[in-house]
Amino acid sequence: MRTRKPIKLGLSMRYLGYHAAAWRHPEADPGAASKLSHFLRIARTAEAAKFDMLFLADGIGLRTRDEPPGALCRSHQTAELEPLTLLSALAAVTSHIGLVSTASTTYNEPFHIARKWASLDHLSGGRAGWNIVTSWSEAEAWNFNRDQHMEYDARYERAAEFVEVVKGLWDSWEGDALVHDKASGIFFDQSKLHVLDHKGKHFKVRGPLTVARTPQGRPIMVQAGASEQGLEIAASSADVVYTASHRLEAARDYYADLKSRLAKHGREPDHLKVMPGVTYFVGRTQEEAQAKLDLLNNLVEPELGLSYLYGQMGDLSGYPLDGPVPEPKDPRLRSMARIGLEMARRENLTIRQLYTRIAAGFGGRVVVGTPESIVDDMEAWVDAGAADGFNICPPVLPMGLDDFVALVLPEMRRRGLFRTEYEGTTLRANLGVPVPGNRYAAAR
Ligand SMILES: Cc1cc2nc3c(=O)[nH]c(=O)nc-3n(C[C@H](O)[C@H](O)[C@H](O)COP(=O)(O)O)c2cc1C
Repeated sequence: MRTRKPIKLGLSMRYLGYHAAAWRHPEADPGAASKLSHFLRIARTAEAAKFDMLFLADGIGLRTRDEPPGALCRSHQTAELEPLTLLSALAAVTSHIGLVSTASTTYNEPFHIARKWASLDHLSGGRAGWNIVTSWSEAEAWNFNRDQHMEYDARYERAAEFVEVVKGLWDSWEGDALVHDKASGIFFDQSKLHVLDHKGKHFKVRGPLTVARTPQGRPIMVQAGASEQGLEIAASSADVVYTASHRLEAARDYYADLKSRLAKHGREPDHLKVMPGVTYFVGRTQEEAQAKLDLLNNLVEPELGLSYLYGQMGDLSGYPLDGPVPEPKDPRLRSMARIGLEMARRENLTIRQLYTRIAAGFGGRVVVGTPESIVDDMEAWVDAGAADGFNICPPVLPMGLDDFVALVLPEMRRRGLFRTEYEGTTLRANLGVPVPGNRYAAAR
């Protein structure tokens, strides 16, 4: 029997789930995305199931557009909690599951991010992760003193420098700096506290960080973004890459490309986990799974469905709903638009058909099947060298998570593809990625 590589699992738990009509599901509590009790229930279920991590995508503005008019008031992707605050609350009532939240390099300062995530790593006993994004919407620019979103190359240049500053700040304290010698009165060894003194194009940050070296050495770094610039940030720094791959072949090429870039940074291929996002509709039979998808699809109003295309492809209001999907004109939407366009071209979809597809999984990959066919699909991706794990994006919460735990996990375990116990108490230990050394200690 061949040895099977264990699959890593994240649980993306934003809003009430990834389907556009999740809040209208007959069993959904439409206000749950603002309630701690909802997230407690999800976190406890996911931890009992031994998920590697809870994951929160994020935006810092109301991105849903009221285009066409009537779309905005139908969207549940409008009201949510600030993710780091939420994860801090969940840290206190969980013990093993990773806690990963998104933060933008475009609308933050590196010192803030370094400090907050280091704090979460201490509070959680080594379970914090930062999902590095550059943001993409004008709606976010308007909340941060700008009329327009920062230009694509400039914001990636800022992101690359931002990440280096944060890593530098996280090395401020060597692991054994805090000697706490009551007899001599020495609280810390001054030779083990380091001032970064960064002076770059975008940032001037002296340091040191006012948070001690963290239980994981530094929090896990996740990168989400598919461009050349994003790949380079991932290769140099990320422990996990969250992708939006739809097709196995493209995902395999991306995976090979990314892993081949690690050696020049002195990293092993296995030290970075590639985890595509995927929304599963699972049933004991194919018909039952399809019925779960149909139930939600029938609750998507056309105004709302169209708004999903506005966000990803720009203004399509001048085109017939039942006609072909045109090329997007806006260069700032590159990778996100590309995925939708490829899907439309491959399957000859109309605008209406495309928005129904996108609405089912917030633009991500959607798989409808039985536990066996879903785990076959997972295995196919892992065996082909296209994924190390998956970021599960349930269509509706908590029901979609319950379905996954009750139906898919037993099949994964039957095939030896998923853990029955956590390997360790830190996210690094469970993901199987190494604790980074402190640069100053290494230089000594
Ligand atoms: C899988 C995936 C997840 C993302 N998640 C977020 C997110 O939670 N918040 C955010 O502001 N941007 C998110 N982004 C956007 C990226 O940070 C980036 O701005 C956008 O994808 C354009 O850059 P790219 O061409 O490198 O992908 C995500 C992108 C991808 C591909």
